[in-house]
Amino acid sequence: MSPLTVGFAGLGRMGTPMAARIAGHGFPLAVWNRTPRDTGQLAGRGARLAGTLRDLASGSNVIITMVSDGAAALSVWAEPGGLLEACTPGTIGIDMSTTGPHAAREIAARAALAGVRFLDAPVSGSVALAEQGTLTTMVGGEPTVLARAMPVLQAITGKQLHLGPQGAGAAMKLAVNIMIATVNQAVAEGLALAAEAGIDPRDAYDAFLVSAVSSPFLRYKRDAYLSPGNGPVSFTTALMAKDLQLALDIAEVAELPFRLTAAAKESLDRASAAGFGDADFACLARLLRPGSAPA
Ligand SMILES: NC(=O)c1ccc[n+]([C@@H]2O[C@H](COP(=O)([O-])OP(=O)(O)OC[C@H]3O[C@@H](n4cnc5c(N)ncnc54)[C@H](OP(=O)(O)O)[C@@H]3O)[C@@H](O)[C@H]2O)c1
Repeated sequence: MSPLTVGFAGLGRMGTPMAARIAGHGFPLAVWNRTPRDTGQLAGRGARLAGTLRDLASGSNVIITMVSDGAAALSVWAEPGGLLEACTPGTIGIDMSTTGPHAAREIAARAALAGVRFLDAPVSGSVALAEQGTLTTMVGGEPTVLARAMPVLQAITGKQLHLGPQGAGAAMKLAVNIMIATVNQAVAEGLALAAEAGIDPRDAYDAFLVSAVSSPFLRYKRDAYLSPGNGPVSFTTALMAKDLQLALDIAEVAELPFRLTAAAKESLDRASAAGFGDADFACLARLLRPGSAPA
C-alpha cells in the first residue's frame, strides 16, 4: 500500500494547528489557503505551500479541507478549478469543516463522480485542543475509507467516532454544537444572575466548575468567560450562528420545536448586529452583564 501523502486546504484558526500536527507526524504535506498567509511555521515543519488547488491535489492521496462553511467547502471541492478536477481516482477526500449534512452529502455525491472516496469528519473542540491533537472527530462514510485515513486523523484528533454513512458526521457535529451554544447562553445568564447578587464572577465561575454542570467545555472556556473580549478568539459568534442556522433548517423540515437553539441563535445574531460577529462566542457573557448593552 502506498504511503499517505496529505494535502490540506484552509489555514484558519483551526486549520493551521491541524496541518502543523500532520507535518509534525512526518506525513509529506502540501498546504493551501485562499488568501496568502504566513506559513513560515508550517514550512519549518517541512510543509510545501501549494499555489493552487490543482497543485495541492497533485501528489496527495489524502486531501483534507477545513474552511468556514458548506458554501466554502463546496467551492473548494467542486467549483471549476477545485480539488475534484485534479484528484487522482482513489484519493481520499475528508472535509473537517462544519458544513451540515446537506452540504456534506452533496460534496460526497460529486466526489463519487470523480472517483474520490469522501468522509465528512468535522471536529469538536477548539484551537487549544487542535494544537494538542485532542480534538474529537465525528465521521460519516465508509468504514474501510476511514480505516485507511486513520493514521492521518490520529495525528490531528484524540478520538475518532464513526457515526454512519456520509452526512452522519456532519449531522452529529451540529447536534454537539447546539448543545454548546445553549450552554454558552446558560453560562452568560448564570454569570449575570450571580453578578446581580454581588458575587464576584471568578467565584461564580469556580462554583460552576465544582458543581454538577462542570464539563471539559466549561473548564477550557474559563478565561474566555471571565474576560470576554480580551483573550484570543477561538470560535467566532458568526460561525456559531451559522451552525445553529443549519440545525434550525433541519428542525424546520422535520417539524421539531428547537426552542433553546432558536433562543441561542437569536442572542448570537444580536451580538453580531452589535458588532461582535468576529468576537469569540463567549462574548455573550459580556453582553449580558448587568448594566451592559442588552443581547
Ligand atoms: N474555531 C473553532 O473553535 C472551531 C471548532 C470546531 C469546528 N470549527 C469549524 O471549523 C471550520 C473552520 O473554523 P475556523 O475557526 O478555523 O475559521 P477561520 O479561522 O475563520 O478560517 C476559515 C478558513 O476558511 C477559508 N475560507 C473561507 N471561505 C472560503 C472559500 N470560499 N474558499 C476557500 N477558503 C475559504 C478561510 O480562508 P481565508 O484565509 O482566505 O479567508 C480560512 O482558511 C468552520 O467550519 C468552523 O465552524 C471551528
